[in-house]
Amino acid sequence: MGRGRTHRRRLSLDRLGAVPRGRLRGALRPAVTLAEGLLGAAFVVAMVAVLDHTTLAQAVRGRASGEALQRLVGTLAVVGGLTALGLAYLARFQRRLVSTRRQLLVFGVCCLACVVAAKALLALDARLRPEWRSLVYLTPLSAFAVFFAVIYGQREAIAAGLILAMLVGLAVYATGPRAGAAAPEPLPVIAVLLSGALFGALASRTIRKRTKLLKIGLLAGLLHVGLLLSFHLLRGRLRLDQAPPFDLLWGLGNGVGVGMIMTILLPLIELVFDVATDIRLLELTDQDQPLLRSLVTLAPSTDNHSRRVARLAEAAAEAIGANSLLALVGAYYHDIGKMTKPECYIENQMDGENPHDRLRPSMSALVIASHVKDGVELAVEARLPHAVTDIIEQHHGTSSIEYFLDRYLKQAGDKATLDTAFFRYPGPKPATKEAAIVMIADAIEAASRTLDQPVPSRIEALVKRITASKLLDGQLEDCRLTLSEVRLIEQAIFRVLCAMYHARIEYPTSRLERPARPSSRRTT
Ligand SMILES: [Fe+2]
Ligand SMILES: [Fe+2]
Repeated sequence: MGRGRTHRRRLSLDRLGAVPRGRLRGALRPAVTLAEGLLGAAFVVAMVAVLDHTTLAQAVRGRASGEALQRLVGTLAVVGGLTALGLAYLARFQRRLVSTRRQLLVFGVCCLACVVAAKALLALDARLRPEWRSLVYLTPLSAFAVFFAVIYGQREAIAAGLILAMLVGLAVYATGPRAGAAAPEPLPVIAVLLSGALFGALASRTIRKRTKLLKIGLLAGLLHVGLLLSFHLLRGRLRLDQAPPFDLLWGLGNGVGVGMIMTILLPLIELVFDVATDIRLLELTDQDQPLLRSLVTLAPSTDNHSRRVARLAEAAAEAIGANSLLALVGAYYHDIGKMTKPECYIENQMDGENPHDRLRPSMSALVIASHVKDGVELAVEARLPHAVTDIIEQHHGTSSIEYFLDRYLKQAGDKATLDTAFFRYPGPKPATKEAAIVMIADAIEAASRTLDQPVPSRIEALVKRITASKLLDGQLEDCRLTLSEVRLIEQAIFRVLCAMYHARIEYPTSRLERPARPSSRRTT
């Protein structure tokens, strides 16, 4: 019954042309593939080896006692369960991370490194005087959380923080019986380290100054101290006539050390993992950046257009909670490819000769489309972050180059042989919300220049027309924007565009004084 209904629904979706395509189809694949499952299994074995390598070695040689085997099975079950939960969470909510093997590998290796650090500190603990013990509070869990938040995102960092805190707690629990009474208890270790990790992940959303990491570290350290004090109060262990417990020092030292280490490592992380951190993006907004300086010199009108697109894109991204700094930077750089042939783009032609007058429409379309490829090449050469290069590559998606398509169809008439697909940009379509925002803002900014009287009603109609055309053309199908977000983007762009044209809206006197405006062709 159920299967029949699903099949009928699928057929009707087929007929309506609403069958999921591209990335959406990818999202409907089985949650965890065989390769990802194998990686997960390898991670479990490696983690068990880190936690209890002696018993594992004995079991492999067939010399493990009954008690040791029980311990091994218990460790395997806990680590396996946590890993399965983590993988299921990532596959369900963070498919992008799981489907990229390299990222998944880095994620797993970092988790292993964190537990290795905890085990090493526990082993060192046994050699210290009893009152100095609890070195496990130095485990840099919050450093890993900040690292994950910077390179993958906050949700991944929080998930990793939760699982890692459990695994470190497991290491403490497994070590406890051997270490005796002086061993730390698992619950305070989990709570204290998890609090620092969650704080680090949440506070790392925007890092616009390198010193912010020092502040995050210090505050995480103070959070550790506060929680540790609470646990000591809970057991009634604090005495005014005695020195404070050493674990407070380890907890504070953990936070401060993490802040310092991450401040030093951040530029290296940006370079190795090619991440567009806020600090890197802020550096790219500097108008003294070589690419932006060249753009203003070689194609000043394109530079002006890019700055206007940047204002629209930033406001639109803020309106839907997307990365507004990335949208701003993407818009600044989206048309850098025009620098290679600035005279071919209408905004840079002034009153001079138009090279397209000598070219066939098909050749003109190739020249216009080439600014995307040229832009990507310039961005790669200048080592711009991947996220910015992607925006350059996707800012036209597979949109039609309408002006030259119309010209071709008019010239060729009945003899038209070229497919309309020839007059489209090569793509790909925007894959992120920020790239889609730059696409919409770019098209609207360019079209707004053709408005003779940019009054709010005309601006609103234009914004709606352009957005609807991008939606109907399927350009926004890979970027995960919802219809309500598209509506918010329209409203934000309308507001900023009205503010931009406010000074230019015609008043009776200025209309008389103003010379006739030449009709302009849209070029984005
Ligand atoms: Fe543009
Ligand atoms: Fe463009």
